[in-house]
Amino acid sequence: MKKFFFILPVILSLACQQTKTGSDSMGTKVSSSDTHSFSQPQNAVVKHLDLDINVDFKSQVISGKASWQIENIAKAEEIVFDTRQLLIEKVSLGDDEKETSFSLGDSVQYLGKALKVRIESNTERVTIYYRTSKDAAALQWLNPQQTAGKKQPFLFTQSQAILARTWIPCQDSPGIRFTYNATVSVPKELMAVMGAENPQEKNAEGKYRFRQPHPIPSYLMALAVGDVAFKAIDQRSGVYAEPVTLQKAAYEFADMGKMITAAENLYGPYKWGRYDVLVLPPSFPFGGMENPMLTFATPTVIAGDRSLVSLIAHELAHSWSGNLVTNATWNDFWLNEGFTVYFERRIVEAVYGKDEAVMQEVLGSQDLHSTLEDLGPTSPDTRLKADFTGRDPDEGVSDIAYEKGFAFIRSIEETVGREKLDAFLKEYFQSHAFQSVTTEEFIAYLEEHLIKGDKSLEQKLDLKNWIYKPGLPANALNIESGKFQAIDALLEKFKTSGDVSTLSNVNRSTNELLYLIRHLPEDISAPQLTAIDKEFEFTQSGNSEIQAAWYMLAIRKEYKPAYPQIEKFLTEVGRRKFLLPLYKEMIKTPAGKVWAKKIYSNARPNYHSVAYHSIDELLPGR
Ligand code: BES
Ligand code: ZN
Repeated sequence: MKKFFFILPVILSLACQQTKTGSDSMGTKVSSSDTHSFSQPQNAVVKHLDLDINVDFKSQVISGKASWQIENIAKAEEIVFDTRQLLIEKVSLGDDEKETSFSLGDSVQYLGKALKVRIESNTERVTIYYRTSKDAAALQWLNPQQTAGKKQPFLFTQSQAILARTWIPCQDSPGIRFTYNATVSVPKELMAVMGAENPQEKNAEGKYRFRQPHPIPSYLMALAVGDVAFKAIDQRSGVYAEPVTLQKAAYEFADMGKMITAAENLYGPYKWGRYDVLVLPPSFPFGGMENPMLTFATPTVIAGDRSLVSLIAHELAHSWSGNLVTNATWNDFWLNEGFTVYFERRIVEAVYGKDEAVMQEVLGSQDLHSTLEDLGPTSPDTRLKADFTGRDPDEGVSDIAYEKGFAFIRSIEETVGREKLDAFLKEYFQSHAFQSVTTEEFIAYLEEHLIKGDKSLEQKLDLKNWIYKPGLPANALNIESGKFQAIDALLEKFKTSGDVSTLSNVNRSTNELLYLIRHLPEDISAPQLTAIDKEFEFTQSGNSEIQAAWYMLAIRKEYKPAYPQIEKFLTEVGRRKFLLPLYKEMIKTPAGKVWAKKIYSNARPNYHSVAYHSIDELLPGR
């Protein structure tokens, strides 16, 4: 009931919004079909941002000005921006900064407040003076204790999906693109980096200048400030990390150059100049975030053996699917993630071989099946084209966009063959570069360039079923991995003999160990778990994926020897993908719930808002 009252104003405000389309002076289509933004780009739209901000760690506030070059398409009297948790101090127009009036709309859950600025028919620049608030959802301010080096504080942003508006007043829709320049002042012991052209060294004044020459959507605005250093991997790629993490990170990501080349061989030139990765402190809520030119990554992918670097392949792939060709609204999110997972696995295949890619495909397909089971195969949330209207799009992130999206493209590959699909995708990225695309536009493009009126192909592909219907269509592939079949055979022996030593022949690669953990029999006994742990040292593993999988089982089976490590993991790591399933598993029993609350009350200050918002819903009244 409580929820409904929150949602009601959203529904009301969105019900009045219809798609309105216009074109800017370059003929680029602008429409306002995004139900997660207040902006009215068909009337007045942003083109370029000059950002000048100061980052103050003492007050945990970013303050300064966002000066927007705009195009007043409809000669409108106002331009609308998105804001949330921002304090707007003053707004001016033009290069001579003539003060103008503005108003803030009512606050709507998740969406924040519309900022309506009075403009003139010939207005080309709107400058907004503002400051963030202490609890800005995009920002995580870490004290030195929460970093790897423990000496300096750290700040990072996470703007996707609709959090950019909590640190920059902007038209916060993935359908709107702009270029930017930024000047960022920080304490002089720290370095600032952005999703843009970056410095490689600290400077004495603590003032950093950035340039993003390509038009990007607001969710790709990103900033990190901390004691970070840079190490090159090759001419156009490298890693940023805290000094104590830098060498390990550079070792782990040594194949980045090869990945970029593999990606280019598949789908055309990398258009962004450099590709670097920033390794964040462990509270980073995602595995990775594809900020342009500078992927943000969790340190939990540093396993020491490069076995989790498909995450880098994924974020790199977004440089095409996502950053170059962008989902027009969050309901089209599968266009970003489904293509990216497909592309990621093609990069993995090119750099690490077919076996590796197939194993990841099978593990992903298992994730998809368990998500379908959780949501129910007829749930509307299992459709590729989603409807997050009235909800926070961040909460709608599930394996559907990723793995059902992948399965769809994989089934197209199977039907038309690689050669045709690759040529089609290359052309799709090329022809839509620096544009945003709706699901419907994609379908039309695919019909025109791949199906070309071939009725039997159209029937085989079953597009509409894949995209608009829940569940999994009949032509979804069933992929087998020879490596995993070998484990199945050993598991069969184990099930009949009960003897853990039959498992000692399992290969010790990360994928194979994950497969093993996931397929241990449900009725496994405590002594068997102990023996398996002794054989494989899962509880003490330094590989976060293995830890997360093993800890799930340990919680389900109440395998107490793992409990201290589980507590440590939940307290140090802030990656939502690991936290949510573990807490969900814990709260299934009364004792587990007490335990979960105890850990959570201690760990919550270490989590970013996107992580703790999701967990707050699981553990209300902590
Ligand atoms: N862009 C996403 C992260 C994201 C999605 C942030 C939706 C906010 C809202 C990123 O590319 C991603 O998918 N990350 C995955 C890793 C990947 C290997 C599947 C993650 O963080 O787990
Ligand atoms: Zn992604």
